[in-house]
Amino acid sequence: SINVNDPGLITLVNKLQDVFTTVGVQNPIDLPQIAVVGSQSSGKSSVLENIVGRDFLPRGTGIVTRRPLILQLINRAPPATGLQNGINGEIKSSDKEANVDEWGEFLHIPGQKFHDFNKIREEIVKETDSKTGRNAGISPAPINLRIYSPNVLTLTLVDLPGLTKVPVGDQPRDIERQIKDMVLKQITKPNAIILAVTAANTDLANSDGLKLAREVDPEGQRTIGVLTKVDLMDEGTDVVDILAGRIIPLRLGYVPVVNRGQRDIENKRAISFALEHEKQFFDNHRAYKNKATYCGTPYLARKLNLILMMHIKNTLPDIKARISSSLQKYTQELSQLGDSMLGNASNIILQIITEFCNEYRTVLDGNNQELSSIEL
Ligand code: GDP
Ligand code: NA
Ligand code: MG
Repeated sequence: SINVNDPGLITLVNKLQDVFTTVGVQNPIDLPQIAVVGSQSSGKSSVLENIVGRDFLPRGTGIVTRRPLILQLINRAPPATGLQNGINGEIKSSDKEANVDEWGEFLHIPGQKFHDFNKIREEIVKETDSKTGRNAGISPAPINLRIYSPNVLTLTLVDLPGLTKVPVGDQPRDIERQIKDMVLKQITKPNAIILAVTAANTDLANSDGLKLAREVDPEGQRTIGVLTKVDLMDEGTDVVDILAGRIIPLRLGYVPVVNRGQRDIENKRAISFALEHEKQFFDNHRAYKNKATYCGTPYLARKLNLILMMHIKNTLPDIKARISSSLQKYTQELSQLGDSMLGNASNIILQIITEFCNEYRTVLDGNNQELSSIEL
């Protein structure tokens, strides 16, 4: 499937988790949080939704996202793939059934599982209205949503209100400042990845998203430019100069995408429809067809994957050190229990670590070429 949750990466992170659980260490890697910034209605919520590959965010014209939404994806391994069932993590048929078990849970309604993603969207709308009123009000109080699934990476995504200048409805006079503060709070963290979203039918030089991203990431180390609404550009115009870095260069570059339009939302078009439509668009467009592999949501997801992979690669020395010191401690404790047990237990652990290392190498090697082609 096409989302940030690359199965190779999920397997890798799960294996890491297994190794750590075995040697008694918690939370091996803290994956970066991915946040969207940009003007109101530039397509931020649409981009996030396409990346996750599920329909659950309110989208539309005007100010729809009026509170920050902190979306934690939580990888919940199917119950039977633990260490007890072999360290090779083979998926058995009972586990496949468990894969269907995905649900959302809100911090403000603990214990209630939402299996229907449409209900998740309704609850976001309801909870937004309850704190902000219906008349376009905003609030910095985040809505916290967790999605549990065996098919996601444990990772945080943040949907944010769009940057806007002129107050409407019940909005405060200093709405610009208030939204800016909300956004800055989420993107200032050095391990946040910033998706700076700009609608392609507006002027890049005026991009609020890029301006704000530059304030916290002047070197452009963690900012990806996302150009939405490429399908709505005037006939004969395109984003080729932007992609080539001739307008406002970004180290991590720009990815043009085509999301569902307002009509598609009204007609409840599925994400699969949107992705197919996007592919057709880039494959057949005179300006993009020779670079279609570098266009669209799948490429954006791959780019994010590579950045996450790079993050793991950078933290690996520390991870290794932590594993080996725990292993040492563990071995010492075991040696007091007697030789026969020691042999057995340390064999199992060695096997797990070897397994993990092989897995890591396979996943990383597969991406190495792409990794080195991306400047980080
Ligand atoms: P946000 O306010 O930045 O979160 O933007 P939304 O995701 O809510 O989208 C705002 C409006 O723009 C909605 O009506 C979307 O259907 C529309 N939209 C977003 N991206 C695209 C795109 O790539 N193409 C078209 N045609 N419409 C888009
Ligand atoms: Na909007
Ligand atoms: Mg939005």
